[in-house]
Amino acid sequence: MTSIQPARIGEGAVLLRGYLSLAEQRELVDACRLLVDGPVPAYVPVVRGGGRMHVRMLCLGRHWNGKTYSYEPTRSDFDRLPVPPLPPSFLALARGSAAAAGMPLEADLCIMNYYESGGRMGLHQDKDESARSIARGLPVVSVSLGDTAQFLFGGLRRRDPVETVPLASGDVFVFGGPARLRYHGVSRTIPGTAPGELGLAGRFNLTFRQYDLTSEPEPVS
Ligand code: SIN
Ligand code: MN
Repeated sequence: MTSIQPARIGEGAVLLRGYLSLAEQRELVDACRLLVDGPVPAYVPVVRGGGRMHVRMLCLGRHWNGKTYSYEPTRSDFDRLPVPPLPPSFLALARGSAAAAGMPLEADLCIMNYYESGGRMGLHQDKDESARSIARGLPVVSVSLGDTAQFLFGGLRRRDPVETVPLASGDVFVFGGPARLRYHGVSRTIPGTAPGELGLAGRFNLTFRQYDLTSEPEPVS
């Protein structure tokens, strides 16, 4: 991990720009590629209401069901396969980056999304984790790899003003505490902006969360 200066985007929202070295990004991209085309492959979810998402999604640790907006151990909205485990290296990355932003996190799930060139995601809140996890303000850790995303960061109400924060490859954005339920999305990813060394067209985004609070996260000193 390179030493970087955390930038405060708002209370509870911290951007760790250039947090991952190129070598770390490559390692993660390789792991993501193996996972999305592995025995439990990524797929394009069709959500409640019938809309197709503009990403290929693969959940690790717990599956997010886009029809019920809840988490489950098998992919009952798609192929009924059991959700693959969260690799220990991913868990350590989530813990380390949350700590670098001054927040505790023992992630037990990761939603990995692959955006094709120009991909997007509508404005939404991440609010399907346990009520206790959200009430504690345990953060979402978002890791960007590949093409730069025009990330939209709004307020607690859908109609609140939205700022655009470019998220480049290797950036980590952490939002917890009072920012935990802020609306966010991706207006578009910018084609051809991934570092050439990654050999990646498009973008991977990994969001880590902690659903279960039976193991309390260690406070960050
Ligand atoms: C998400 O909110 O689930 C994804 C955000 C991103 O791709 O940066
Ligand atoms: Mn989200």
